[in-house]
Amino acid sequence: MAGLLGLALGSVSLLGPGCRLAKENIQPPPADRHAPYNYIGRQAMVVAAHPLAVQAGLEMLKRGGNAVDGAITTAAALNAAEPFASGIGGGGFMIIHLAREKRTTVINFREKAPHLASPAMFKDKGEEEKEWRTSSGLAVAVPGALAGWDLALRKYGTRPLAEALAGAIAIAEQGFIVSPTFSSINKDEYERLVKNLPEGSGYLNEGLPYEPGDRFRNPDLAQTLRFIAANGVKEFYEGEIGRKLVAAVRAKGGIMTAEDLASYRAVELEPLQGTYKDIRILTAPPPASGGLHLIQFLNIIEGWPVRKWGQNSVPYVHHLSEALRFIFADRERYLGDPDFVSIPVPWLISKDHAAALASRIRDSVPLGRYPYEEYKHEEKDAANTTHLCVIDRDGNIVALTQSINDFFGTGIVPERTGFLLNDHMDDFAAAAQSVNAPGPGHRPVSSMGPLILFKNGKPFLALGSPGGARIFSSLTQIVLNVTEFGMPLDEAIEAPRFFSFSSGGRPGPIAVEARFPQEVITALQAMGQEVEVREAYDKYFGGAQGIMVLRDKKIMHGGADSRRDGVGAGY
Ligand code: DON
Repeated sequence: MAGLLGLALGSVSLLGPGCRLAKENIQPPPADRHAPYNYIGRQAMVVAAHPLAVQAGLEMLKRGGNAVDGAITTAAALNAAEPFASGIGGGGFMIIHLAREKRTTVINFREKAPHLASPAMFKDKGEEEKEWRTSSGLAVAVPGALAGWDLALRKYGTRPLAEALAGAIAIAEQGFIVSPTFSSINKDEYERLVKNLPEGSGYLNEGLPYEPGDRFRNPDLAQTLRFIAANGVKEFYEGEIGRKLVAAVRAKGGIMTAEDLASYRAVELEPLQGTYKDIRILTAPPPASGGLHLIQFLNIIEGWPVRKWGQNSVPYVHHLSEALRFIFADRERYLGDPDFVSIPVPWLISKDHAAALASRIRDSVPLGRYPYEEYKHEEKDAANTTHLCVIDRDGNIVALTQSINDFFGTGIVPERTGFLLNDHMDDFAAAAQSVNAPGPGHRPVSSMGPLILFKNGKPFLALGSPGGARIFSSLTQIVLNVTEFGMPLDEAIEAPRFFSFSSGGRPGPIAVEARFPQEVITALQAMGQEVEVREAYDKYFGGAQGIMVLRDKKIMHGGADSRRDGVGAGY
């Protein structure tokens, strides 16, 4: 991490002369990348999964941009600096808090299925169904990122898109030194990349994965973003870049059309609201599911003596795992795109529903059976996606999660454009009768859950994470670590995590990080729980970034997850 940050500091200013980032703005991270470390900000702060993206966002804030300008700058810079996790070939959700108006809003820029999509579209692919869902042209949903960034900037930003893209262009042009994280993900996805990458795309190093220390440059992406900066997002949705995108998708067996791309719109939504004790939670509503399930989870937990049990104690892990299994049953039964299916949201997030579920959980024995045997949860190991948070000097806040789904998406790159296309069609359910089956113009349910927490009417924590289906469980554990166990933010983020789920009415194992004490694991097993021990800091459980406002101390703490390359910076 220290090496990465040194590189960020050593590079030229990303936004032009006069705005070089002063060294004192970034505190050196600890030598042990996993040691809890809170970045400090007094007026403004950015946290994200790559130091160059943080630098670009912070420079925008220092130039007078607001949190929305800073967030979109950071989001675009992540396309260049962390290209395997998100970018203009993907989509996501952002929640924006406007301090002066005391108003919070959400922008949904989740990808959509092409209009020729149908519930059984992958079913005739037989054995190779998974392959078609993740690495063919059929896997690509209509990207929403640029439309979302543009809508946010036009409505709530103060700077033009071209200025927000400048940092990304500089990073793509100049390149950066590949981190161990980048290299290991590049190796993991090698097969898909070899199959789908066009000649000379740059996402492999002369046909081989990048090694830590190699330089990664992406002049094609720089050029693409320059065209968009000059001509607007129309260049992507209706222009030459769009034509190349549709051609690349169709060449790989896809069904996307120019009309699908031209008709894509990001939309503004009312945030979903919940409470935990004296805390108010605002988050992205469906088709995002992370925030909704976090509210459900906290509703159930509210009635339990978690402080007495202790963080990661046997009763804590047992009860929370049982709750997760009920929530996954609800998720598979009810969650779809609300533009097309009716979701009983008020009931799902009601305290009554939570109390009814909690009353079924037994103290020292797993139930073994959970609702909705006919609904299967497809647990995926990957922990892709990226999350960033920004607070500006006026107290405006953005929490933004974006993704191209699997690391490196489909691995399809439209000719000489430098950006990767998502495989978000894989977030539709495999079962054609599911409420989350593919359909024309449907958005697949997402696990993302960018959120802002309020106490006494004032925002105090912005948070989010990648990690697929683990997102809401990981975020809930971080929230409890802060609010119940009194941890500073980064300690709360770095603390060992666990996860469980149910599928078809049966429990999944309890996955724990290897830092869990053996006696806790043994005691859970003695209760009849199956336990799966994973790496000590496993990106399976996400890579959360957050900002906590410590009003009494008049500072902000930034927490960035060492399970990925997260850093923060403030001034
Ligand atoms: O939107 C989602 O929920 C996912 N596409 C995010 C991807 C992820 O975090 C890892 N998926 N297993």
